[in-house]
Amino acid sequence: MKIGTFGTGNMARAIGGGLAQSGHSVMFGSRDPGKATAVATEIGHESQGGTNDAVAQFAEVIVHTVRAVPSTFLASTEPLAGKTVIDVNNRDFPRALDGEPLFPSLVAQNQADLPQSFVIKCFNTMAMEVFDHEPEALRNFGVSAFVAGGQPESREVVARLAEELGFHPVDFGGAENADVVEIQGDFIRTVMFAQKKFLLTSQVREIPPASTSRTGGRRPGSY
Ligand SMILES: NC(=O)c1ccc[n+]([C@@H]2O[C@H](COP(=O)([O-])OP(=O)(O)OC[C@H]3O[C@@H](n4cnc5c(N)ncnc54)[C@H](OP(=O)(O)O)[C@@H]3O)[C@@H](O)[C@H]2O)c1
Repeated sequence: MKIGTFGTGNMARAIGGGLAQSGHSVMFGSRDPGKATAVATEIGHESQGGTNDAVAQFAEVIVHTVRAVPSTFLASTEPLAGKTVIDVNNRDFPRALDGEPLFPSLVAQNQADLPQSFVIKCFNTMAMEVFDHEPEALRNFGVSAFVAGGQPESREVVARLAEELGFHPVDFGGAENADVVEIQGDFIRTVMFAQKKFLLTSQVREIPPASTSRTGGRRPGSY
């Protein structure tokens, strides 16, 4: 396919480069076409560089790696009509680590109600059917149990209990991060209900680094 990227940074190189390597015709787009050409030369596999407008014209599928809507950097969004645009963007980070939650979490409400206690969020991201498994069997599936709130000692207690039940505990930090764990609960329930599969589970797993870097490694970028 004809693939384009808006932007020439880390994600553009990672996704555009990977797709060029698997045989797609890739054009990198930049505010500075010289920069896009340099990236294309580095990536190889007959990829090209150009302006973001040239990419909008050229590509059937565009990988949008700019944290701004396309009308702010394109002369016209018309060439994108009927085309697929993959939005890989995330909000500014860290969002949850600066003490400004997205919404008042249930944990925060329970903690305010029980100021003498240590309220911990856990077990909200898996359906009860998951608990039918014996811990030994469940452990093999690598299901994460996110543990947020209270203080480290109370999280440690809950993490051990989660482990006994067969889960892989993931320390998520204090109550200020519990809103994200609650969103993860909404996330997994949305997929469960959409697919009518109650044994869908969440997993956070660290993988080893690649033996050789296809992307050229993470570089300082705009974000
Ligand atoms: N890096 C990751 O591991 C990762 C993983 C998942 C998602 N994301 C998300 O993916 C997006 C891109 O991340 P990244 O790491 O690739 O960032 P990056 O290396 O900074 O690249 C972003 C590119 O956007 C372009 N750009 C920046 N400001 C622009 C503007 N105002 N108008 C037009 N183009 C602009 C720049 O391209 P030119 O200078 O060539 O115009 C830059 O190369 C972010 O939203 C990030 O949250 C990143």
